[in-house]
Amino acid sequence: MPDCTYYTTAIDYTNAAPHIGHAYEKVLTDVLARFEKLKGEPVYFLTGVDQHGQKVQQSAEKEGVPPQEFADRCTEKFLALWKTLGVDYDGWAATTHPVHKNVVQKILQKLHDEGQLYKQAHRGFYSVRQEQFLTDKERNESGEFGPEWGQVVELQEENWYFRLAQHREWLLHYIDTHDSFIVPTFRRAELRNAVEKISGDLCISRPKSRLSWGIELPFDTEYVTYVWFDALINYISFAGYLAEPGSGLPEFSKLWPARAQVIGKDILIPAHGIYWSIMLHALGFPDDQIPTLLVHGWWNIAGAKMSKSLGNTVDPVLLAERYGSGALRYYLMADISTGKDSDFSEERLRMRFNDELANNVGNLLNRTLNMSQRYRSGILRNPPLADAGLQTLSSQEAPAAVSAYTEAMTEYRIDASLHAVVQFARACNQLIEASAPWKLAKDPTETDRLDAVLYHLAESLRIIGILLAPVLPEASHSIFEQLQWPHPARLRDVVWGQLPEGHVLGIPTPVFPRLEAPATPQTE
Ligand code: ME8
Ligand code: MG
Repeated sequence: MPDCTYYTTAIDYTNAAPHIGHAYEKVLTDVLARFEKLKGEPVYFLTGVDQHGQKVQQSAEKEGVPPQEFADRCTEKFLALWKTLGVDYDGWAATTHPVHKNVVQKILQKLHDEGQLYKQAHRGFYSVRQEQFLTDKERNESGEFGPEWGQVVELQEENWYFRLAQHREWLLHYIDTHDSFIVPTFRRAELRNAVEKISGDLCISRPKSRLSWGIELPFDTEYVTYVWFDALINYISFAGYLAEPGSGLPEFSKLWPARAQVIGKDILIPAHGIYWSIMLHALGFPDDQIPTLLVHGWWNIAGAKMSKSLGNTVDPVLLAERYGSGALRYYLMADISTGKDSDFSEERLRMRFNDELANNVGNLLNRTLNMSQRYRSGILRNPPLADAGLQTLSSQEAPAAVSAYTEAMTEYRIDASLHAVVQFARACNQLIEASAPWKLAKDPTETDRLDAVLYHLAESLRIIGILLAPVLPEASHSIFEQLQWPHPARLRDVVWGQLPEGHVLGIPTPVFPRLEAPATPQTE
């Protein structure tokens, strides 16, 4: 086992601006990384941008700028969005970086020297959009290449091939013997079927005459590397694999294998499930060094795929401006279950935020601090009191919420972990209703009970603040400030009873102000 938990995401194409799907994947991985930090575990989070390939070359040509300039400009938009959304990565994988190019070339040279690459002429149909040669498998029922392939042209060309097919049996066996290779497991069968159908090898080069925006083959300089072969290597090149001394990169053996490589369902087959696993195997990585693929679903719009041509893409920059990055992070984590698809709805974003955060957690904080200030000048006391409601909260509901949360987080079910926190806050609000502190405050014989209620609410809020930290780091920080809890968010502090006798609570300020509908929503 490596010393440090390593998470990666897909690297985003820099041929267009980031969309909500990109934002989802990065926030999801950010939450997983922040959960490790919450546990006090070392973690390394790599994300980045996929800057080579035909799409970038074409977009740059259209604009009349050099491809590097075009890719850099797109990259700025991704960098700005991750900053806005609080995506706190440790390593940035930009595939035009010399460190990466160097590793790609070393890998190509090694595979070449070992006879795992060969050159061959090929004549066939080629999809310009997908940057790949098509086979008869890609034809639809009417025997044609459908519109999903875009423009299809007939080409004859010599290229370099990677001996993929010879590893087919290995991969089938690997899938059959490694349950945790693909999460969620329902995608395994799909992958296995695709592996069974592997017939040919993988073309890993493009002649410069057709595509020049890529990494040159070290043994045949008339060619550049196929963009997927280049891009997949980012997961190891930026983790220190074959790094030159003094590179400043992490020590590879401390990170590898990644705990999870987070990708969308569209790039499991063939890119990650087949090419990447076989590339690692061919490079000599043993079976226990093949990482887990955490495959998430897609955000759709009213059941339909988001696409630029349909004009139904959702702009995360605009949403973050309109509702704040916390609200967007919360929605993206709460309204989808990892692995499945979900429909994006701005109305649901507001509704869930208002119902679960503003009216629930925010209200709990506000009421607790207000009552504590009004009745006790913010000073907490924790008198021992035999009260069934309070005991249930502290010895059953709080620990149950923590364990449900932790289990769900560990299983990548972020929505379920948030649900546990929201339900716990609801139980606290019910406690306020049931115990009616405003009545207790008027009754001198209920002094202890009022103190105990306020203490239980403050302790519960401290725990809620800790549990919200991975998804809502800023709100969590603000809750701690108001409770005057002096520590950073640490999972070990969820143990009940950490606020000492005489602790002074702060003044309430709204953490989750209600969201209002905008004049011109993007989607509803
Ligand atoms: O595929 N919902 O980049 P990309 C959720 N560069 N996730 C979505 C989505 C949606 N509507 N649309 C896209 C690439 N994604 C390659 C990856 S990795 C070595 C190279 C996800 O910008 C998609 O599934 O098209 C992928 O994981 C990520 O966004 C980047 O997609
Ligand atoms: Mg894609």
